[in-house]
Amino acid sequence: MMKVTKQQLVQAARLIDHYSQYQPSPLSLKKFIAFGEKNASEKASFIFLKKEIPVRLANIMKEINLLPESLLMQPSVRLVKSWYEKSFEEVIEFENVSIESTVRVAEFCDALVKIRNRHTNVVETMAQGILELKDNYGYDHVIQNNIQYFLDRFYMSRISIRMLINQHTLLFSEKLDNHPRHVGCIDPHCDLHDVAKDAYDNARFLCDRYYLNSPEVQYQCINGSEHSVPIEIVYVPSHLYHIMFELIKNAMRAVVEYHGPDNDLPPIHITICKGKEDLTIKIADQGGGIPRTSADLLFQYMYSTAPKPDPESGTVPLAGYGYGLPLSRLYAKYFMGDLVLSSMEGYGTDAVIYLKVLSSEASELLPIFNKTSLKQYSSSIPAADWSNPNYTSGLHFARQFSTASKRKYSTMPARGYSTMPARGYSTMPARRYSTMSPCGCSKGTLNDSKCSETKFDQNNMSDVVSYRTSQREPLFRLAGLFIR
Ligand SMILES: Nc1ncnc2c1ncn2[C@@H]1O[C@H](COP(=O)(O)OP(=O)(O)OP(=O)(O)O)[C@@H](O)[C@H]1O
Ligand SMILES: [Mg+2]
Repeated sequence: MMKVTKQQLVQAARLIDHYSQYQPSPLSLKKFIAFGEKNASEKASFIFLKKEIPVRLANIMKEINLLPESLLMQPSVRLVKSWYEKSFEEVIEFENVSIESTVRVAEFCDALVKIRNRHTNVVETMAQGILELKDNYGYDHVIQNNIQYFLDRFYMSRISIRMLINQHTLLFSEKLDNHPRHVGCIDPHCDLHDVAKDAYDNARFLCDRYYLNSPEVQYQCINGSEHSVPIEIVYVPSHLYHIMFELIKNAMRAVVEYHGPDNDLPPIHITICKGKEDLTIKIADQGGGIPRTSADLLFQYMYSTAPKPDPESGTVPLAGYGYGLPLSRLYAKYFMGDLVLSSMEGYGTDAVIYLKVLSSEASELLPIFNKTSLKQYSSSIPAADWSNPNYTSGLHFARQFSTASKRKYSTMPARGYSTMPARGYSTMPARRYSTMSPCGCSKGTLNDSKCSETKFDQNNMSDVVSYRTSQREPLFRLAGLFIR
């Protein structure tokens, strides 16, 4: 009995090693839509996912193993790790299943639903693990840096795997309802003003409950490319809602705290502007701004100036976990967008969300486990090379977060992230099973989006739990940390 268990462990580790040698295949919103719109084929999706999900899981599982031992020992982190191991095991059971086996293909859909449910509480459980580490051991700059680097990649990986699972299950499970206009969880005509209004209304509800007062809002929509046409893009409304809700909550809290809950409050200005390339949303408040010395801290997990929420209170807090900004930026970056804060201390803050207008440019940004990422976990903080050490660490953080857009046309992964498929990619032969190099930068993909076997372009796929579905679960929507 003991021997079998050991063998199973060795076998599982071997499979994780194997799949982690491939790099994930990023998909654009256009591909997701094209796959789901007409005659979506469950079999084609199955062929793609039975390789792609193990690849994405294995890539991030290798990074979990590189976390400091003191963190890996924490009960919550062990729990999260065990969920990943179980899910990998379950999905790998379909590795050799033929598409002719209709029953097994249908079972795959059920298996994905089970995996999604298992991972529902990953964000808060991992957050709990880090709190456990802090309480039991405290942590230094090196660990803090590693954790920040890891969490960005870990949560991004989770967003992406959920996107794949949700698209498959929403498209092919008969048990799940979907919004008639949506393709999986993507809205091909996502109305930005509608989502902003929804986010404002819900944030205001929380703010009123907490402070008995809340600022008004003023909207401005500028359609720079097609005047007087409502602003729409292809997007995942639940992602957009999440980002705007978090930013509006932050803006409201700043305004009320700065001016006092019993005084007149200046409104929040939300500007939505569509150009040819960028869709920009600016949420501007007059909440007193943020000093420059705090600017580097804003996107750190657990950085918050709000009182720690009491989980026993049963009410949803307006702020306090310090996950609002870093997670919102991940959602923005996931499809090649960004989130930037610019502040004038003594006046207010502008939070600017950038999204891609063209769905073909909105490609997933995915972490890749390779030599570059490996090095991040073993490197220590460099010695100060400016007279003021804070200045040095400021530059360090800035570099760490500037991975997404700079090298987007390069074929080399920038600092361990997948890049947008380079424009010339389409003429390259499929790289399936080729150029494998353990932990090297030139990892192949198991699923090339041009791969003839998956026919992904012709058929298709798409994403996460629909925005409308999540509207039925107010707690999930309202508490920033408890994202799906
Ligand atoms: N618009 C803003 N004006 C002033 N300070 C802000 C603004 N947005 C964010 N901050 C500061 O950044 C900190 C981190 O924000 P973040 O949203 O990540 O966490 P939080 O709001 O404290 O908690 P939660 O995870 O519940 O959102 C806030 O505590 C606040 O001090
Ligand atoms: Mg917040």
